[in-house]
Parts: sequence; structure tokens; C-alpha cells
Amino acid sequence: MDTPVGGPTGAAARAHSNIALIKYWGKRDEALNVPAVGSISITLDALSTDTRVTFVPGLRHDEFWLNDQRTQSKRVLGVLNLVRERAGLSFRARVTSTNNFPTGAGLASSASGFAALAVAASAAAGLTPSTRELSILARRGSGSAARSIYGGYVEMHTGTRPDGMDAFAEPVLDTDPWPLSVVVAITSHTAKTVSSTLGMAGSRATSPFYPAWVDTAKNDLADMRAAIATLDFPRLGELAEYSCLKLHALMLTSRPPLIYWNAGTVAAMHTVHELRQQGIAVYFTIDAGPQVKALCAPADAALVARALAETPGVQETRTSALGPGAYLMGAQE
Ligand code: PMV
Repeated sequence: MDTPVGGPTGAAARAHSNIALIKYWGKRDEALNVPAVGSISITLDALSTDTRVTFVPGLRHDEFWLNDQRTQSKRVLGVLNLVRERAGLSFRARVTSTNNFPTGAGLASSASGFAALAVAASAAAGLTPSTRELSILARRGSGSAARSIYGGYVEMHTGTRPDGMDAFAEPVLDTDPWPLSVVVAITSHTAKTVSSTLGMAGSRATSPFYPAWVDTAKNDLADMRAAIATLDFPRLGELAEYSCLKLHALMLTSRPPLIYWNAGTVAAMHTVHELRQQGIAVYFTIDAGPQVKALCAPADAALVARALAETPGVQETRTSALGPGAYLMGAQE
């Protein structure tokens, strides 16, 4: 056969990034990439990855091009191997992936990236997995990617099975019943120095707060589910800030410490609190990077973006609505 599987141009998919309102940090199985705690996230419309996968006869090695640069990634190869195994395929693949936002700087490029890869690679190999199977596959690349398979409000389950097959994400609420805005304050364009994978392994091994982090996760998830079910924004926002600060307490008490914040990060956190004192319902969350994501009602987004843009150390802001789940391009476009 000389034609690549899935047609000469393979398959392309788009997935959107997400941010966790209730965070995950730490794994219960490192090899299978199964998180130690569940998480709840929102998918972001403005931050996306487009990925094309083509299985090419005669290609000697898998090729991964990220933002037009040839890149090595064991995790990308791992996902491709799982797809090949399932499809009974031996061809190597050419993968091209483009982010419309800074890569590796706490904007969850691995979430959108691995969700898009799971969808595109499966289709290029001629597989027709369910969204649950795609979520499990995306998780093998990155824990948060399991959530980017879905749009709106999404919960990731840690599961209990040793094979990790019950560790997948599920939609909690669609975007339409409860639109929210997220204003991202970008305080650095530099890629982070400690990856989430290394950072969370360090926290698990060294932070005295790690057992408490795992013990309290179930309560936080239940509270957040209730906040979403009742569309209670102050409750959602307070919980999101609490989960974020608990995560950063864990990071700061790891050895060596993980200090992902810079001066602009801290200034932006104060801006959010000052806006709240003025009566605007806005709350922050921060992942493993220096960017601050402010959650607010769409009607307040312009005002929040202005206040953050004027904050010392904030280089630019981006405002996002909630976004859709991952999809094959050509199928919806
Ligand atoms: O998806 P990973 O394995 O890179 O980890 C992401 C961890 C956080 O973004 C800090 C929290 C989360 O739940 O997304």
C-alpha cells in the first residue's frame, strides 16, 4: 500500500485548552499517568491547538513539529504507539501541531495539545473511539488533556482501577446554561523551567502538605459540583481561589521549592482582590506558571481586562469565553 492510512493528508483536530477550578497535582500511577486526585475544569475558547497526524509508509521515525519547529517528545511518541497498537499499524507518523498562544508557560498547552493529538491520531489510524476512550488516551499524554476532550464544565475522575481505565473526564455542565469569562493576564512569555510532571513528583515526595492535599480533594470536588449545579458564582470563585492557593502552598513547600509566580503574578492577584472590594465578582486561579486567570461574568470582562492590563508586570491580557470539546477539523469546519 503506498497511500498513507486515513488518506494522503491524514486527519486534523482542534482542541481547546482548559483551566482547572479544582486542581490536580500528583499521580497515583506514573507509568499510566493516572492522577492522584480528581479535578474540575472549564474549557477555554480563545486558546487552542490544531494538530494534523499522517501515518506515512516508508517514514523511518515519527516526526513531531510544534509551532514549525522539529521537537522531540517521548509523550507524543507514547500516544502514537498506543494508537498504532490499537489500529494494528506499523507506519511512523508525521505530526504537526500549532498553538495560538504561548507554549509551556502555564497556559495548559499540553492539555489542548494532547487532546488534539488523541483525536487526530485516532482518526488518521482509522479508529472510531468513543469520547471516553479519547479522554483516557489523551490522559496518557497529559493529565489535564483528558478534560479538553469536552467543552464547558468538566470533571476528571481519578478512578481506582490499577489499569487506569476508570480515570477519564466527563462533562458536568454545558457552556450555554452558564457562560463565564476568563481574563488571562500574561506576565511572562518564557517557558517554565520545571515541568508539571517533575514538579508534582517532587511535591508528592517532599511536601509535608501532600497527604492533606489528597485527603481534602474529595470535599473540594463535591463543593464545586454543588456550586456548578446551583450556578452559584461567588461559591465557584471562592472555591477556585482556595484550590489554587492550596496547590501553590504545596508547590512552595516542596523541596526544592516550586515558585511559579513572578512579581506580576502577585500584583495581578491583588488587582483581583481590589476589584472584589469594589463590588465586582472576580476571582483568580493560577496553574504551574506565572499567568493569572481571572474568572468573571461576561459583562465584567472588559473592566477586569482593563484593570489587569494596567497592573505592573502584566504584559498582555486575553479574554476567553468557555469553549467546545475537541473535534476533527473538516467535521465541523
Ligand atoms: O496536565 P499536567 O499533567 O501537565 O498537569 C496540570 C496540572 C495543573 O495545571 C497545575 C492543574 C490542573 O489540574 O490542570
